[in-house]
Amino acid sequence: MSNDEMKKLQGDLIKAIEGAEGSAALEVVRIEALGKKGTLTEMMKTLGGLDPDARKAMGAALNEVKVAITAALEAKGKTLAAAALAARLEKERIDITLPVRGGESEGRIHPITQTYEEIVTIFAAMGFSVAKGPDIETDWNNFTALNIPPEHPARQMQDTFYMPPSTHGAVAVAGSEANCRAGVPQEMVLRTHTSPVQIRTMMGQKPPIRIIAPGRTYRCDSDMTHTPMFSQFEGLVIDEKTHMGHLKGCLLDFLRAFFGIDDLPLRFRPSYFPFTEPSAEIDIGCSRKGGELKLGNYGDWLEIGGCGMVNANVLRNCGVDPDKYQGFAFGTGIERLAMLKYGIPDLRTFFEADMRWLKHYGFVPLDIPNPAMGA
Ligand code: PHE
Repeated sequence: MSNDEMKKLQGDLIKAIEGAEGSAALEVVRIEALGKKGTLTEMMKTLGGLDPDARKAMGAALNEVKVAITAALEAKGKTLAAAALAARLEKERIDITLPVRGGESEGRIHPITQTYEEIVTIFAAMGFSVAKGPDIETDWNNFTALNIPPEHPARQMQDTFYMPPSTHGAVAVAGSEANCRAGVPQEMVLRTHTSPVQIRTMMGQKPPIRIIAPGRTYRCDSDMTHTPMFSQFEGLVIDEKTHMGHLKGCLLDFLRAFFGIDDLPLRFRPSYFPFTEPSAEIDIGCSRKGGELKLGNYGDWLEIGGCGMVNANVLRNCGVDPDKYQGFAFGTGIERLAMLKYGIPDLRTFFEADMRWLKHYGFVPLDIPNPAMGA
């Protein structure tokens, strides 16, 4: 092959490469030139039959063509990939300034979130801080440390979902303060109340303690007025002098601020919880006349939670000296408070994620009622 023919071959191939309209077409050109049976490959094969001088000259010329073709293929490949990306970006462009479909321009704050925020705002103003604990708790924190040992009948009142020990394959040992502090694997449960946050807090910090602990809780319950998951908030105050009068005053201030009813009456009804002594149910005043529930000073009563003075056994279980420290605890359901305040009739609707419900009972983000602003 003469030099001119070689130049023509190179020119034709480059033209083909430059004319390729996509990466598939480019690949066809590459195979035609450099593939197993490609033009250049076939020509390389003929080199063996030439005499040494001709072979040397022809080999060098062919190699030159090959280098030029390879470079052209690579450059074209890059150009095509960049063009494909640009086309895709253009096609998939999203106009973020378009209005939301269906005319719904804002999401809503869920009534549980709203109620949770209101509770935290009021207690924060009273000097409480927020403490948190995990939904999957140790058996010790949820039951035993709260003076509910294994086999205690109070465990049946709060049946839950039991899980294998925290470390896979480990054998669970009986819960104890020492084992808990050492992180020994234990039976785990979905917490049945927020009371285990009392344990976590008392084991983790020295009194004085003044916390509330809102969060999700779980029980094996499902009917009109019970859902397997619900929300509670816990309160805990521990110092040297706090007594039951403080408990009642604290709850009265909170409930009156929360419901915005200045003369809302509060009543303690004697009760039993293993972790408080004495224990009481918290009742607030209401009226049920004509089948309509109304909160206020009307002579009737409605239960909204439990409370009491922290049992000395619980203090001891957390390494707190009951001869030096004492205090109170309370617990209430957040959905319950939301239903009463915002007139939501059915508990189950909280968890159905129905947009029509949320639109009706939810709150517009920049227009939420705020107890600190008198709403
Ligand atoms: N944990 C209790 C319950 O879920 C409520 C409670 C909390 C009672 C704190 C007394 C003190 O029923």
